[in-house]
Amino acid sequence: MLAFVVSVPRVDAELASDALWALGVVAIEERDPAGQAEDQFVELWTSLGDDVYVVERATAGFSPEWRWRLVEVDESVADTWRIHAVPTWVDADLVVCPAWVSFEPPANVQVIRIEPGATFGLGDHPTTVLSIRALRSEVFAGASVLDVGCGSGVLGVAAALFGARRVDAIDLSPAAPAVTHHNAAANHVAGVVSATTTALAEMDGPYDVVVANILAPTLVDLAPELQRVTSLSGVLIISGVLADRHEHVQAALAPMRTVSRDVIDVWAAITLRW
Ligand SMILES: C[S@@+](CC[C@H](N)C(=O)[O-])C[C@H]1O[C@@H](n2cnc3c(N)ncnc32)[C@H](O)[C@@H]1O
Repeated sequence: MLAFVVSVPRVDAELASDALWALGVVAIEERDPAGQAEDQFVELWTSLGDDVYVVERATAGFSPEWRWRLVEVDESVADTWRIHAVPTWVDADLVVCPAWVSFEPPANVQVIRIEPGATFGLGDHPTTVLSIRALRSEVFAGASVLDVGCGSGVLGVAAALFGARRVDAIDLSPAAPAVTHHNAAANHVAGVVSATTTALAEMDGPYDVVVANILAPTLVDLAPELQRVTSLSGVLIISGVLADRHEHVQAALAPMRTVSRDVIDVWAAITLRW
């Protein structure tokens, strides 16, 4: 298995981490590089899979100061991030917990247990947290929901737990449907969530709630299809956009109008209606 290692000036560490999260990585480990002058550089270890073409494309937008390399690692080392995984509090009464972490919830706290496998969606990324919060306020009992870019299925599973009658979940990643079905079963909503690799253009709709936590350029490309599958009385929740740079995504979705916006760190989620 190949680890993707980016060496960046320490001042760029947060920016580079955000760029990696935006590429859909599952975990990032920060390490001090061996033999480097103290404090100047930091290494970000992650995985983009073993397809070198994907890596080449991903690095096209990197700053020229950022150096990257691929390192062969054994799977057990690649999984050390699991040891450090912790539950993520979405709200005072709602937690997303890695499936292998033992966690005794206080009374009246709802727990969503997620095993991400080889997909994005442990539940700890700010865009995922924002999307779950938006779903919680928009999903009503009996709603139909479409989770576009479902990854681990964390958003679809959350929607089902919030009372959706039917959740369709789609992703380009061939790993996503099995992981999503596993997580739906683990959270006792297997009968509600159906995951496939069907392209958005082939989904029928319309849905009461559509959620898409995907990068801004993809949201812009998908805008006409996202609109088509959102019912006239429904809502579209988008995340994966930067808090200070998403006007172009809103413009692509016009005439839908923004009805709410929430921010964590540099990330935003936006809820739109017709
Ligand atoms: C940032 S991850 C979000 C995963 C999960 N929904 C969450 O909120 O944690 C984005 C996901 O969108 C998927 N994706 C990217 N472009 C897509 C497209 N055009 N259609 C469907 N899925 C797509 C990626 O494979 C990835 O799993």
